[in-house]
Amino acid sequence: MVHIEDMKICHLSFILQRRFDNFTIDFLEWEDSSMLKKTIEQNPHTNKVAVESSTGRPVGYILGGDTGLRGVLHHLFVSPEYRSAGIGYLLMAECLKGFRENAWGARRILGLVYGNNPSAIKILKQNGFIFNPILEQNFPCVIPCYLDL
Ligand SMILES: CC(C)(COP(=O)(O)OP(=O)(O)OC[C@H]1O[C@@H](n2cnc3c(N)ncnc32)[C@H](O)[C@@H]1OP(=O)(O)O)[C@@H](O)C(=O)NCCC(=O)NCCS
Repeated sequence: MVHIEDMKICHLSFILQRRFDNFTIDFLEWEDSSMLKKTIEQNPHTNKVAVESSTGRPVGYILGGDTGLRGVLHHLFVSPEYRSAGIGYLLMAECLKGFRENAWGARRILGLVYGNNPSAIKILKQNGFIFNPILEQNFPCVIPCYLDL
């Protein structure tokens, strides 16, 4: 069984390993461990980890930050062997709950996703994110989306 919990600094190594080994998102290359550590510390309510309950092992995570003006989804990742079980959806839902209930008051959350990533797009849409249909259909590249809280 997997449960969702707040991210802690001890999860940083999982995040670093996953984003460099497995991530297909190539617009994250400038982020280093000190920046990731800072965002974990500054956004405790919107950074979540999916953990295998029996072992405590992380199997997925979401990083979301509140700039005070806008909220931004930074990363969403689920280990391949745990995919298509609803964990990505749950991580997103818990992160958005953090934005709604505890963050600094941003009213719009922005996301970026590759047009050829149907499972990520599905999760964003299931959680209410709005896509521009023209961008979505015609540009097989990174497309923006947003959610108003
Ligand atoms: C995107 C990612 C986080 C999804 O995690 P996940 O735990 O498998 O997601 P979920 O199981 O909650 O939901 C996936 C949904 O997409 C659907 N899906 C999966 N592959 C699909 C496809 N090729 N076409 C359409 N839908 C698809 C699943 O059926 C599921 O929908 P359902 O809830 O109606 O059954 C995971 O694939 C991942 O880590 N990918 C690599 C990193 C990445 O791309 N991150 C997103 C950056 S924006």
